[in-house]
Amino acid sequence: MAKSIAVANQKGGVGKTTTAVNLAAIIASWGNRVLLVDADPQGNATSGIGVQRGSFRRGLYHSLVLDEPLAAIALPTGLPGLDVIPSNKDLAGAEIELVEVEHREFRLKHALESIEANYDYIIVDCPPSLGLLTLNALTAVKSLLVPIQCEYYALEGVTELFDTLARIRRLHNPGLMIEGLLLTMYDERTNLSAAVAADLRDFYGLQVFQVVIPRNVRLAEAPSYGKPIISYDAHSKGAEAYSQLAREITNESKSAGSGAGSSAVL
Ligand SMILES: Nc1ncnc2c1ncn2[C@@H]1O[C@H](COP(=O)(O)OP(=O)(O)OP(=O)(O)O)[C@@H](O)[C@H]1O
Ligand SMILES: [Mg+2]
Repeated sequence: MAKSIAVANQKGGVGKTTTAVNLAAIIASWGNRVLLVDADPQGNATSGIGVQRGSFRRGLYHSLVLDEPLAAIALPTGLPGLDVIPSNKDLAGAEIELVEVEHREFRLKHALESIEANYDYIIVDCPPSLGLLTLNALTAVKSLLVPIQCEYYALEGVTELFDTLARIRRLHNPGLMIEGLLLTMYDERTNLSAAVAADLRDFYGLQVFQVVIPRNVRLAEAPSYGKPIISYDAHSKGAEAYSQLAREITNESKSAGSGAGSSAVL
């Protein structure tokens, strides 16, 4: 059974896509079969992994709305072991078109059931909202990874996200775990980054990943070349940090503990 993780935070620009793309690429580079699901109509994970906007005819929309099998939609990427379910702005229509559909929060879960056995890991990149696409992701996966940008209002919204998590557990996915909270865009030169990190660790303790993702220009440049950081600059600080994150997540020996990376229940 695949380990499936949704990368979600309804706040925009906090590093969800950067995390989803790089985590998927690194885990695949270690010999795992990985599926990256782009659940955001912005299509940033799709282009970030090197699939051009106009180069595919079917994406996640076709599965969620038209019931086309994901196996027929998944595309290989330039990285061995890594496939992607691409998306573009068509996906925005799914939110509206599914409004009247029964069990609409379960569309992605049911779609993934048919291909789950082909993969070791499934990583879902969510849009910056708590709408139907994010609800589908949280209903479909085993755990939630929350990137949190080291900035002043960082914690704003996290409470709301956890309220949503509690509701999803109650209604749709009782086993949903917290994979961990991830500090992103950490700037070691500012007191603010250190203060946000300290606050988060005070509040959420071991559910915060040990590793902190630094602000690193190479991470910001890589998507414009359609490459994950390990292909673009494997020796950058960003590549190092995301490899550490991938180790924390894949290191099953840690699972006896209750910290981040061990799918702790909040
Ligand atoms: N660690 C980092 N260092 C420098 N730049 C980063 C880092 N992480 C992300 N970025 C850049 O910050 C911007 C936002 O990141 P990203 O797209 O991953 O966020 P997001 O949460 O997916 O955004 P959205 O909510 O719009 O989907 C992008 O331009 C990205 O390249
Ligand atoms: Mg994004």
